[in-house]
Amino acid sequence: MNRFQPTNACQQQALAESRAALPDDIVDFIQKIEGQPHPESQLISVLHKIQHHYGYLDRAHMDAVAHLLRVPAAKVSGVATFYHFFRLTPRGKYVISVCMGTACYVKGADKVLEKIREELGIDFGETTRDGLFSLEESRCLGCCGLAPVVVLDQVVHGKETPDGALAKVREVIAGGNGG
Ligand code: FES
Repeated sequence: MNRFQPTNACQQQALAESRAALPDDIVDFIQKIEGQPHPESQLISVLHKIQHHYGYLDRAHMDAVAHLLRVPAAKVSGVATFYHFFRLTPRGKYVISVCMGTACYVKGADKVLEKIREELGIDFGETTRDGLFSLEESRCLGCCGLAPVVVLDQVVHGKETPDGALAKVREVIAGGNGG
């Protein structure tokens, strides 16, 4: 039986709720693969599309995917939490990306990271409560000669220091963006 052909009122309502939780083009994509063998093999692809659309995945998105693809909800959330490139919370207004590649690490990226963590109280993959900053980990940005590298609001800062990173974060907050 095709998931998109409900046979009773309850199934119709569940289908409508699942469809409403996702953009139309993604529902169409799921509908296309749902009739193929092993549609669950497209799970990562579907989650990528949702994240591309919303910037993150929330519970409603994952439940809708589980329902429409006929995959256990635990499997969907397991995939979403296993892969670090999936975000489970909305991104902040400013994204701070700390490169933890080898060159940056040996030049002290961990100390820069620690300073930012202390200041903002968040870890990789998290967003401050006020929605201002998200902290992300990156792996070699291709400018190892500038190590350690931090990207703040899409601006690359090379040879960064813990105090330098702290000053930049505080500058953003002091600039009237701190709520
Ligand atoms: S390791 Fe950080 S830029 Fe290459």
